[in-house]
Amino acid sequence: MASIIGAITTSHVPAIGGAIARKVQHEPYWRPFFDGFHPVREWLAKNKPDVVVVIYNDHGLNFFLDKMPTFSVGAAPEYRNADEGWGIPTLPPFQGDTALSWHLIQSLAGEDFDLTTCQEMQVDHAFTLPMALLWPEQDWPVQVVPVCINTVQFPLPSAARCYKLGQAIGRAVAAYPGDQKVLVLGTGGLSHQLDGERAGFINKDFDLQFMESLTSDPAWATQFSIHQLVEKTGTQGVELLMWLTARATLGERARKLHSNYHIPISNTAAGLMLLEPTAA
Ligand code: DHB
Ligand code: FE
Repeated sequence: MASIIGAITTSHVPAIGGAIARKVQHEPYWRPFFDGFHPVREWLAKNKPDVVVVIYNDHGLNFFLDKMPTFSVGAAPEYRNADEGWGIPTLPPFQGDTALSWHLIQSLAGEDFDLTTCQEMQVDHAFTLPMALLWPEQDWPVQVVPVCINTVQFPLPSAARCYKLGQAIGRAVAAYPGDQKVLVLGTGGLSHQLDGERAGFINKDFDLQFMESLTSDPAWATQFSIHQLVEKTGTQGVELLMWLTARATLGERARKLHSNYHIPISNTAAGLMLLEPTAA
């Protein structure tokens, strides 16, 4: 049976793509951020996942405001990046694991999740940059399954619903009759607000409490409504739903192998966690 060997959660700020292109990872501004990924890469080199389920939010590249699915799953043989207007390089295409995609889709639909299935799908910075942080050579030694959650246009799915989606993804992978080692990558957050009167808003106390909750009390964040999460973390801070979903795939108990938290990267409190499931 396939198994989830771990979950990695990280911020996905576009400026990371610029820093990689300009090779300034060692400059004082960037170092505290990029250095956080060394232990993660060591873990990847040792544990060698075969496929990555990438839980992220599209920001207008594949879905625009005219058509905005709540939950969508990619089922394409290949996923391409494209210019989003950030002035950062377009990254190489990713190979899809279509068999696992369709298995996930069948399984999630069977658990009453109403999905949009995407046999063509472009992937934006929220997908590509975390992948480039994990595999800086950008040779992608893994196949991918994109799972996209709307955090861009209201109404958004609740934290509780996202948690249930993550649990269902965990069950689906566990029931998959392959022997793949699956990594779950959740991207977004942590607290940030890019627009309006509170632009630049960051809430370190909440971020740290949220990160701590992922091991001590993983459903903790499901007590908050979307509006409460926006209040506490900023309009784009709700991207922490991707972390919550990724964490929920691991089941009841998980342990933290590594974490990093650094303020700011662009307008964002940048967080990173590496979690491993522990047998119940
Ligand atoms: C920034 C953060 C994001 O999550 C994003 O999608 C775009 C920009 C930022 O802080 O610049
Ligand atoms: Fe974002």
